[in-house]
Amino acid sequence: QTIRRGDYRPPAWMVPETRLDFDLDPAATRVHATLTVTRNGADAGPLRLDGAGQAVQAVRVDGVAVDDWALEGETLIVPLAGDAHVVETEVTIAPDRNTQLMGLYASGGILCTQCEAEGFRRITYFPDRPDVLSRYSVRMTADRARYPVLLSNGDPVASGVQDDGRHWAEWNDPFPKPSYLFALVAGELAVNRGSFTTQSGRAVELGIWVRATDLPRTDHALHALKLSMAWDERVYGREYDLDVFNIVAVDDFNFGAMENKGLNIFNSRYILADPDTATDYDYDAIAAVVAHEYFHNWTGNRITCRDWFQLSLKEGFTVYRDQSFSADQGSAAVKRIEDVRGLRASQFPEDAGPLAHPVRPEAYQEINNFYTATIYNKGAELIRMMATILGPTDFRAATDLYFREFDGTAATCEDFVRCMERASGRDLSRFRLWYSQAGTPRLSASLLHSAGGGRATLRLAQHVPATPGQPIKAPMVLPLKLRLFGAETGRPLTEERLVLLDEADETLVFEAVTERPVLSINRGFSAPVVVESDRSAADLAFLSAQDDDPFARYEAMQQLMLDTLVAATISGEDRHQAVVDAVANTLDDPELDRAFVAEAVLLPSEAFVGDQLAEVDPEAIHQAREALRRALGGALHDRWAHLYAANAQGGYVYSPEAKGKRRLRNVALGYLAASGAPEVGALAWRQFEAADNMTDRQAALNTLANGDFAERPAALDAFYRRYAGNSLVIDKWFQTQALSTRDDAADAVVALARHPDFTLANPNRARALVGAFGVNQRAFNRADGAGYRFLADQLLQLDRLNPQTAAKLLPPLGRWRRFDAPRAALMRAELERIVAQPGLSKDLFEQASKSLAG
Ligand code: ARG
Ligand code: ZN
Repeated sequence: QTIRRGDYRPPAWMVPETRLDFDLDPAATRVHATLTVTRNGADAGPLRLDGAGQAVQAVRVDGVAVDDWALEGETLIVPLAGDAHVVETEVTIAPDRNTQLMGLYASGGILCTQCEAEGFRRITYFPDRPDVLSRYSVRMTADRARYPVLLSNGDPVASGVQDDGRHWAEWNDPFPKPSYLFALVAGELAVNRGSFTTQSGRAVELGIWVRATDLPRTDHALHALKLSMAWDERVYGREYDLDVFNIVAVDDFNFGAMENKGLNIFNSRYILADPDTATDYDYDAIAAVVAHEYFHNWTGNRITCRDWFQLSLKEGFTVYRDQSFSADQGSAAVKRIEDVRGLRASQFPEDAGPLAHPVRPEAYQEINNFYTATIYNKGAELIRMMATILGPTDFRAATDLYFREFDGTAATCEDFVRCMERASGRDLSRFRLWYSQAGTPRLSASLLHSAGGGRATLRLAQHVPATPGQPIKAPMVLPLKLRLFGAETGRPLTEERLVLLDEADETLVFEAVTERPVLSINRGFSAPVVVESDRSAADLAFLSAQDDDPFARYEAMQQLMLDTLVAATISGEDRHQAVVDAVANTLDDPELDRAFVAEAVLLPSEAFVGDQLAEVDPEAIHQAREALRRALGGALHDRWAHLYAANAQGGYVYSPEAKGKRRLRNVALGYLAASGAPEVGALAWRQFEAADNMTDRQAALNTLANGDFAERPAALDAFYRRYAGNSLVIDKWFQTQALSTRDDAADAVVALARHPDFTLANPNRARALVGAFGVNQRAFNRADGAGYRFLADQLLQLDRLNPQTAAKLLPPLGRWRRFDAPRAALMRAELERIVAQPGLSKDLFEQASKSLAG
């Protein structure tokens, strides 16, 4: 059954007040809901309440038990005579049998909820759609010994103890909210408390709630929360609005975290950190996710989405906000590089494959399948492009207008764009195509110079590829930052210019260009497009050394590496020297930030190389990339050895500088390993043993685990034993092996699925092994199809427990069109096996059937 954007109708009944009374018990929780409902328009019809999986125990209207209700599928239909009534329902649910982790469920001994998108209907009957905003008051009663802490949205109002060993608490949320933002938590939790005073003087009590043993690992998250609160005041003028802000960490969670009003619930991997167990990457991700969920308080909660087609209204904007926050904490250039790398690794393939969809989709079967890189990360790029087009002053005026105008409402993407237009006086009609057209635009750029006349002409042309259901596309608005540099003097020949390309093609003319110009284009990745230019290896090397935009500098190096790897894969050409020289030049530049150098000298991933080819040959790509790594490792051996020694540090600190040094040193270790130098096994082992932090320990483990070192088994074993019992670190142990580039990687993964610590019931563990294996281009695409069969087997098992997480892991099988006929046939056979499975969830069915068709 397909839901279509055009079918939107306002709700027939509103629910201004909701009272929920929970009698909590893991096996049987009773939920008594009291809804004050009001008719919305004359032809409202009966009240229709969504439900899923629970049994109706009682229905009352205005205090009187009724029996004229009916079930239409799982929808509860209650006939109502007047315009305003109080409707009560009672149901019983079983949190400890909830393996989907949607609705009310048990994680460890903790009872918690996840309602976005449609989990609230698994708790109680309700119009479970984001445009029904209600004021919630919640009462929870639970066993006092097992569940000493009872939390819900908003502010605590009362609590008490009963004489039967149970206790109760009441919470009140004064802000009307959609049901997907409801949350409760009950459990034995310890708290790390903090406080924050808002710019207008409101004192907010902060709390990070975790198991008592995890308490020492919560300071970083608490600190990040305070930084986020201050940042949102300074940059967007947004202040927090309740007296308390609580975050709870749980081990079983379907994704990263959830922005429930006043009570964020997190996957513990985005809260818990200390130097011994979390990498720099983990620390950064924790700060980013804490910020993201906090920022949702305005972009998501105060202003929510009218319907789920508008999901990017809150997610795209909030990702843009968290990216800007992270950029302000350290190197903005490195943050941009990381974000673009992520976009290319996840969103570009999505946009080029069978599951491509616009940032504002037109139709879905299962909304959980649309929490995608396109909605989140391409959505963030759309906001970034509007910010670029408007400039900082108008963009801030436009967001101010948006917050002023839509506070307390359920809004649309169109509402947001209209604010951008009204505050700036600009016409964004054509820009809106970014919301409706899927596919990554391809931009070709060629620069001609007539030496005599001093004139340079730049011809730009764009093409948006066809995607499923969208065979023909119109040209889009591409905001392109560009600049010309002189090939001889190295000096800039023009200022940076912002060009808004909105035609299929356009020619720009530059006068008085006195020397041969080199084109720097899409600086800062100002538009999320693929650039095809005819720049030579020499020009790319020049830009990698001379460009004043750090992103463009990185990009030039990446393009040079990519061109080299593509040529090597297709025709076995060895053009290593140009890359070796450019990398040497970057390593020798003392001005450059260490973190930037580390990013700039890393080769593009095997998957990204594959994305450049008409047909992916995973083995040839792997061999070509390894050969280039070997060449870089060998030719620059002494530089790597020097960097390795020079970037050693004393005690561990988490700061941008210290992170940069660790990163560069570990990149150097990787290249030393690639060089085949005999000392590397011992070097990596020493680092593994001596490390005072997880960044260095895991980097050493990765190096050893990917090679054939004598130290390899001992390192894997020592890592496992040292961290047994810390599930987040054991996830890393699984993941490292699932991402291995070794010949035996696929067999090792199949064996690991039988390891006693492996379970599909925990999403983090499933993602660490099955999810990571799916993106291991070489091992997953082994020619005999063992990787495809393994993934399909795991997905079918997982689907019975947790359809949402299963569906998330399917996309690697949908890439069959990108491969040779024998592989494509093997992948299709697995997709067909999945689709034919009796009792398949609609989550997995939608993904698998679209993957076969697209
Ligand atoms: N809103 C949450 C966030 O971005 C994620 C919710 C994901 N929900 C889902 N059904 N996949 O922070
Ligand atoms: Zn979000």
